[in-house]
Amino acid sequence: MDRRNFINKLGMGAAVASIKPTSITDIIKANQKIHHQTLEDVAKNEDYWRMIRNAYTIDKNQINLNSGSVSPAPRVVQEAMKQYLTIVNMSPSLWVDDFLIPQRETLRKRLAAMFGCDPEEMAITRNTSESLQIIQLGMNLQAGDEVLTTTQDYPRMLTTWRQRERRDGIVLKTFPIPTPCENPDELYDLFVKNITPKTKVILFCHISYTAGQIFPVKKICQMARERGIETIVDGAHAFAHFPYKYEDLQCDYYGTSLHKWLNAPFGSGFLFVRKDKIPGIWPLMAAPSSQDDNIRKFEAIGTHPVANRNAIGEAISFNESIGIDRKAARLRYLKNRWVEQVKDLPGVNILTSLNPELSCAIGGVNIDGVGANDLTAFLEKNYRIHVRPRFVPNEWEGIRVTPNVFTTPEEVDLLARGIERVIKKGLK
Ligand SMILES: Cc1ncc(COP(=O)(O)O)c(C=O)c1O
Repeated sequence: MDRRNFINKLGMGAAVASIKPTSITDIIKANQKIHHQTLEDVAKNEDYWRMIRNAYTIDKNQINLNSGSVSPAPRVVQEAMKQYLTIVNMSPSLWVDDFLIPQRETLRKRLAAMFGCDPEEMAITRNTSESLQIIQLGMNLQAGDEVLTTTQDYPRMLTTWRQRERRDGIVLKTFPIPTPCENPDELYDLFVKNITPKTKVILFCHISYTAGQIFPVKKICQMARERGIETIVDGAHAFAHFPYKYEDLQCDYYGTSLHKWLNAPFGSGFLFVRKDKIPGIWPLMAAPSSQDDNIRKFEAIGTHPVANRNAIGEAISFNESIGIDRKAARLRYLKNRWVEQVKDLPGVNILTSLNPELSCAIGGVNIDGVGANDLTAFLEKNYRIHVRPRFVPNEWEGIRVTPNVFTTPEEVDLLARGIERVIKKGLK
């Protein structure tokens, strides 16, 4: 008797079939069954999303609502990475130099196609920190030049400017933003209001890491360009999270981490530099002058783990198989689902707009009189729910909740029950 017959005899066929990990082919087949459904219907199609959940090796005893920090990679991406690792270790200098490193060019083209830029504007990096610091530390600024950003920009990016303040005498200016902000023109106006004749650069998030506010990127970048100001957009949380292309942004520089929403291996990211801006940026690690106008000068970092990088291709394929519109619709559905259940409870403050133009998966919330650290610990201890406390010094604190495509409605419902319990009984 072969294995399948044996399993069927035991009546275990269905169980075994249900735990067979989802492949990209399975997703493509499932898409054929749902192609007639509206995005709204697909967002609620639990059979579809259960199948997607099954593509991951996540810990099902834990509810991970912090995909904002870093996302688990689906099994297909992990497998690809392991295969590359095996190849690397067969004969590193031969296989890496002759076979795996040249594959970077394929990846460059695929990422550029996804982002909507010329491949010659796309550098593959290890994360957003590296991408943005290449620009922040590599641009020519003089003492007294001003850099403008918000108090909700990422601490590491602010630290980088502060180091340049100490080293080069530049001046960092930050301003607070309303949270949530229901009118994107307000954000735009705040940038305009805070620009001075000395402003040389504006840095801001495509979507804020604190409470998931989506910024009117194109409008701000066009306004800045008219004034001769350069724009750096921190896209750490945006790429492969919701649909957009470079044309919708028009910034000079853009950095993202692919281990967040693309679900690529940890330590993968990209940097976009507008072609005419490449010669003006010094790379973090020195490059020969022959590479002055070559995007690859930003990638010359010495020996590094190519298996992680080459498996990005599998993450692209995985995301493409779901489709960015379906993915964003599901993420918004999950965010709205928990927010709707708690938003009218006494003492609950929702920090994220529900307008689909202004937010996607990320939602922020706080409760009057309850600290963000305490609420995080309470959810972890009592519900095994993992969220991230977020602090905007001297402004507010709260928890950031980030579901992913593997999150179930029951999981976000449980979060709502946890918040309800705090409202009724406190942190007991
Ligand atoms: C807005 C923002 N920028 C930059 C980063 C840095 O990302 P990474 O640690 O992947 O370099 C993060 C990380 O969460 C972030 O949220």
